[in-house]
Amino acid sequence: MELIIASNNPGKIREYKDLFEPLGFRALSQSEKGIQMEVEETGKTFAENAVLKAQAIADRTGCCVVSDDSGLEVEALGGEPGILSARYKGLATEHQRRMAILEGLNGKENRQARFVCCICWIDSRGRRSLFQGIWNGKIALAEEGANGFGYDPIFIAEDSGGKTTASLPLSFKETHSHRAKAVAQLAEFLRAMQE
Ligand code: IMP
Repeated sequence: MELIIASNNPGKIREYKDLFEPLGFRALSQSEKGIQMEVEETGKTFAENAVLKAQAIADRTGCCVVSDDSGLEVEALGGEPGILSARYKGLATEHQRRMAILEGLNGKENRQARFVCCICWIDSRGRRSLFQGIWNGKIALAEEGANGFGYDPIFIAEDSGGKTTASLPLSFKETHSHRAKAVAQLAEFLRAMQE
């Protein structure tokens, strides 16, 4: 069965192809399907945005679709940057957005934070399912490490031995992260459907 990955992010597309192909799906990115579409993320939650992205493509094609929305929530910043993680404070670069978090936490004792990933799956009959993965941790005092992307250089996961995600091998992230947890739930759901 054919499946469309509602994303233009090459890292996410690779990850989802690796998940779906062994389950017998022919997974294609939206651009491989010739769909030029950038859905506006107007939702108030990760789940709402994941649904918006998947539903827009399902409505247009009638195919199975998977999408996700993710970001960082910092407790002492009232959950910011949250759904605005990719465009926090309108800052242009990932480095500037990380520095904004570090500056926002200046003088604050509570550095608790978490990554959240919400996946929306829509099957060929239009039935929708949602899966959420959470990765708890805290914000480092300074940037460290060059692996990964986004907020990885300032995020220390609770299961990382005190290292930032960007200082650890990518294989650690692929098995422990918020996205890995949400993907594992979706994989389990699909396996159960096939039984
Ligand atoms: P999106 O889900 O592609 O919209 O990503 C939202 C933003 O959240 C990204 O641009 C990153 O800034 C941040 N983010 C999401 N997941 C991660 C991650 O695994 N590591 C670091 N930053 C992340």
